[in-house]
Amino acid sequence: MATIGTDVSLAVSYLQKDELVAIPTETVYGLAGNAFSAKAITAIFETKNRPTFDPLIVHVANVDQIKDLVLDVSLPAQKLIKAFWPGPLTLLLPKSSRIPDLVTSGSALVGLRCPAHPLTRQVLQQLPFPLAAPSANPFGYISPTKPEHVEKQLGDKIPYILDGGISGIGLESTIVGFDKDQAIVYRLGGLSTDEIEKVIGKVKIELNVSSNPKAPGQLKSHYAPSKKFLIKEEKDFNLPQNKIGVLSFKNDYQFPIQKILSPSGNLAEAAANLFTYMRALDESTVDEIWTELVPDIGLGKAINDRLQRAAAEK
Ligand code: TXA
Ligand code: MG
Repeated sequence: MATIGTDVSLAVSYLQKDELVAIPTETVYGLAGNAFSAKAITAIFETKNRPTFDPLIVHVANVDQIKDLVLDVSLPAQKLIKAFWPGPLTLLLPKSSRIPDLVTSGSALVGLRCPAHPLTRQVLQQLPFPLAAPSANPFGYISPTKPEHVEKQLGDKIPYILDGGISGIGLESTIVGFDKDQAIVYRLGGLSTDEIEKVIGKVKIELNVSSNPKAPGQLKSHYAPSKKFLIKEEKDFNLPQNKIGVLSFKNDYQFPIQKILSPSGNLAEAAANLFTYMRALDESTVDEIWTELVPDIGLGKAINDRLQRAAAEK
């Protein structure tokens, strides 16, 4: 059983010994280890049961820390860092030899992010190395937004879960790479593309599913509950049935087991509740879960992306 607590020094001491600690971030909880340590990186892949072809995001305390980690920061990348770090934005940049190939699964690019959660920032500031951290869930399952989610799935494999409360954004970071100066969004996430475009102009979006994805978050089935998860039209929500759980955007469909993402129709609130509610329904007594898409604007695009991947054939 992992201990759940708020002791930053204890978290730091485990990480210094190359052990893994679950850390809170504003997006989702991460399973963190020393990004420079082969032992810690290997343990991350094993603990998550994650294929080693799936690279890890490296988390830094501040912008200065990336100087040693990358070969170059293009102008649009600099603008995005200035506008959105610390925050829910991961940038793919050419890595220096400081970053082990194990972290990037052999890619010449490293995913870098400066998280905003105050506890995790304290941890990062006290460490002499950055932290590799994927979401703290078994590969392919729903990302955790509370310490209890981590405890339930990985608690017997790690010593400590740093409790930073509920992840306020609730969706993973937006991942942006570059083709020369053209920004490309590879994963929709907690920072909407509209916000990004206000700073650097038009971006390309390449979420396409392929057998050799740039990011396995691009795999068609990902972020998935274990029960059957179906996207329905509003008109399909008729007779309440007690073997069906409903995850709706704002409507009350009067099902005995249902979760409403945001009764007032607020997309940020819906995002913050999404994974907690998906889990709650997955753990309830229903046989299948019915859901509906949310308005496809702003954060709604990332929410719809997760709903569609959760609903995809496994
Ligand atoms: O919000 C987040 O990004 C959370 C928190 C903990 O920071 N982390 C997260 O990590 O979602 P993970 O590993 O669950 O998802 C990271 C995605 C993966 O799909 C991975 O393939 C992609 O980022 N990725 C990481 N490094 C990459 C790289 N060098 N090139 C391409 N894709 C990369
Ligand atoms: Mg993940």
